[in-house]
Amino acid sequence: MRHLLSAADLDRAGAVEVLDVAEEMAATQRREIKKLPTLRGRTVVNLFFEDSTRTRTSFEAAAKRLSADVINFSAKGSSVSKGESLKDTALTLEAMGADAVVVRHSASGAPHRLAHAGWTRGAVVNAGDGTHEHPTQALLDAYTLRRHLRASGEGLDGVRVTIVGDVLHSRVARSNVLLLHTLGARVTLVAPPTLLPVGVEAWPCQVTSDLDAALTLGEPDAVMMLRVQRERMEAAGGGFFPSAREYTRRYGLGRARLAALPDHTLVMHPGPMNRGLEISADAADSARSTIVEQVGNGVAVRMAVLYLLLAGERAETPGGAR
Ligand code: NCD
Repeated sequence: MRHLLSAADLDRAGAVEVLDVAEEMAATQRREIKKLPTLRGRTVVNLFFEDSTRTRTSFEAAAKRLSADVINFSAKGSSVSKGESLKDTALTLEAMGADAVVVRHSASGAPHRLAHAGWTRGAVVNAGDGTHEHPTQALLDAYTLRRHLRASGEGLDGVRVTIVGDVLHSRVARSNVLLLHTLGARVTLVAPPTLLPVGVEAWPCQVTSDLDAALTLGEPDAVMMLRVQRERMEAAGGGFFPSAREYTRRYGLGRARLAALPDHTLVMHPGPMNRGLEISADAADSARSTIVEQVGNGVAVRMAVLYLLLAGERAETPGGAR
């Protein structure tokens, strides 16, 4: 693996390898000294053109736990606000010797451009591009599912996952559908028709607008709630649903729907949450919620991704010590 741009870059063996390595990384994180020497002398640049809390800090923690040097770049307060382009920003950072570039950008496809236009020699990791993909989020979700529902060393065969909400604007949904399908899970998307992307019929999943039917008849092993992405809706002129109250009534996970779920069903959310809109406090804070755990698992998964991209590459270099 040279870059991680899409969940589709991983075949089943590749995805299982990331999850297995992430388990090994997680085991090292239970030790008193969490830092490993693996990426000493390597530089990871976090290039964030869009706001982020968990993804950026998670990549930073992952790189630091592997002893890489980390350069954090965020567009706010940088020359990007003076109009500098992705290309010039990338070339500047390349001159500082980036071995990996973790990029989040509001434009779908920006990480692909970075990887293929020759602006960096480093490995490119997509940390969320527009409404397109967010592969490491899908990996940490799969990791979380596997920990709860399957023994290690396997995929997610037959696991039923229902993903609910603003699919249209969600890079998390797209990457999850691709990766979960690769791992053998069965995915159902639930959304109002206005919040489904064009071409969703071709995705490897079922699609419905009836949440109650999906939950009661589908008996999912996990329900993944998506954030209502108000900032992207406003940018598009709004009008995606009649009111917040109506959205919550039809697509929110609240007390009644929570109580009707099978006992073992997990409640997931990538964060940040709109409490009271797509998910109630009861659901978010319930014993079956994995929301905080997902964040913690993100560090181990991103350690695995950086390790597989960078340490592997070094092993191929003649004379390079692993
Ligand atoms: C997601 C994102 O930024 O794509 N958040 C995250 O990475 N944990 C989902 C969202 O913003 O709703």
